[in-house]
Amino acid sequence: MNQTAILSALAEEQQGLIELLHEPQKITHAGRDFWRGHLHGQPVVLALSRIGKVAAATTATALIERFEVSRIVFTGVAGGMGAGVQVGDVVVANEFVQHDLDASPIFPRYEVPLYGQSRFACDAALTALLLDASRAGLKSLTLPTARLLHHGLIASGDRFVSGAQESEALLSALHAADHRVLAVEMEGAAVAQVCFDYGIPFAAVRTISDRADDQAHVDFPQFVKEVASRYAQAITQHLLKLL
Ligand code: ADE
Repeated sequence: MNQTAILSALAEEQQGLIELLHEPQKITHAGRDFWRGHLHGQPVVLALSRIGKVAAATTATALIERFEVSRIVFTGVAGGMGAGVQVGDVVVANEFVQHDLDASPIFPRYEVPLYGQSRFACDAALTALLLDASRAGLKSLTLPTARLLHHGLIASGDRFVSGAQESEALLSALHAADHRVLAVEMEGAAVAQVCFDYGIPFAAVRTISDRADDQAHVDFPQFVKEVASRYAQAITQHLLKLL
């Protein structure tokens, strides 16, 4: 059926998309609401990942097994980690790593046991479209200052990173293992791994809501409430036109 799953981390981001959905149909499965319908003529399923890696993996698995989606696109927010990745910028992932995975000394730090790899790559073709859509989406929004579009590695873990010291420690441990991350969030690596298992194309875009520093707990809710949904809507709509 060539359905695209649009996975959002937060209800605030998803709400605008539900409002645009043609012939919306709500299906409850695995304790979650899934919205089937059409956006820009494309069959889509909208879902909330929920928060954290396990919840996101369950949602992704349900999308694949129960809804038979052909691809998964994640839109959400993240904390900026890399130098020059500022609030309001957009990061399109090329790969994901789990910053809280450590089965050493049995396996190297960050390596996912039995996969022989630490990083899971996003689908190159879908990611190229998401980059174009993000560029177009950023252009279409009226923003107070120019925002940058970054492309690279995102780290996921079951922790809201909300301290400069914590953020620096995470960043330097990841750098020591040659993982140069741009942003941190709590779901993407799990969805990337599920998509790898099933051979389903995956792409992800995250708007930077905070710098994962001492100010993060204030910046994050404010950004989510005021701007995140505008980014998610603009980028998703451009992407669906490109598919
Ligand atoms: N998502 C948005 N900001 C985040 C942060 N600082 N840590 C983890 N996930 C986030």
